[in-house]
Amino acid sequence: MMVAILSVIAEQNPLKAWELNMNSLFNILELAKSGYIKRLFWPSSIAVFGPDTPKEMTPQDTVIKPSTVYGISKLAGENWCSYYSNKYGVDVRSIRYPGLISYKTTPGGGTTDYAVEIFYEAIKRKSYNCFLEKDTVLPMMYMDDAINATIGIMQPESLPSYISYNLGAFSFSPHELAEAIKNKIPEFTISYNPDARQEIARTWPQSIDDSMARNDWGWEPTVGLEEMVDVMLQGLHYNI
Ligand SMILES: NC(=O)c1ccc[n+]([C@@H]2O[C@H](COP(=O)([O-])OP(=O)(O)OC[C@H]3O[C@@H](n4cnc5c(N)ncnc54)[C@H](O)[C@@H]3O)[C@@H](O)[C@H]2O)c1
Repeated sequence: MMVAILSVIAEQNPLKAWELNMNSLFNILELAKSGYIKRLFWPSSIAVFGPDTPKEMTPQDTVIKPSTVYGISKLAGENWCSYYSNKYGVDVRSIRYPGLISYKTTPGGGTTDYAVEIFYEAIKRKSYNCFLEKDTVLPMMYMDDAINATIGIMQPESLPSYISYNLGAFSFSPHELAEAIKNKIPEFTISYNPDARQEIARTWPQSIDDSMARNDWGWEPTVGLEEMVDVMLQGLHYNI
């Protein structure tokens, strides 16, 4: 069940985002409770963490006080999944995705959108005006790994208990991503013009401790920054 209004759009319309993000989850939890769905997947996010959370190697269990509407809705969703699991035995699996990167869909209104937009602009204009500051490090993941993780967590007959698992792959700043793109497109330049999205990014982790996912169901990322850049450029038909 993937439906959501993402972080940036949610800040523009908090009540609508709350209504959509929560009601879509309740609909599906109720179906699972009634036996129509055997095993449910629900996507949470690194947005559950907030300004007081440790930023490096953010632990599974830590200070979790989100400061965005989106983060509040994802944390509430985690807790409702836990409630339905404990109270009604609903088999629900959940991951806290980092920023997801893919060339197959355009960005959906999230704080990590720049890491996708930059590729379109690098190919089209050889330049990009970034809405985050140069050194804002965020945890990210290439979509193939996110899909593998989503399939992976659904496989075991059972897991120790309901948890929305931390999941990491790699982290980078806009500057580091721009340098990696420059290695393939030497003329590429980047400028920085941070907007309100910087305020959201500032509250999120820089890297994630995902050892629990690794231990409990064998999570292991396969795609790193360099490979992700190659795959993105090739996927968008740039000859590297
Ligand atoms: N993209 C990321 O970096 C990221 C990171 C962490 C978590 N997530 C979570 O993963 C899930 C998928 O994210 P995404 O990036 O594919 O987002 P997206 O915006 O591309 O997709 C959201 C989906 O929800 C659907 N939707 C929105 N409003 C709807 C409505 N009223 N009725 C029916 N469908 C509706 C949209 O059509 C879309 O298919 C979301 O729950 C999101 O919160 C995404």
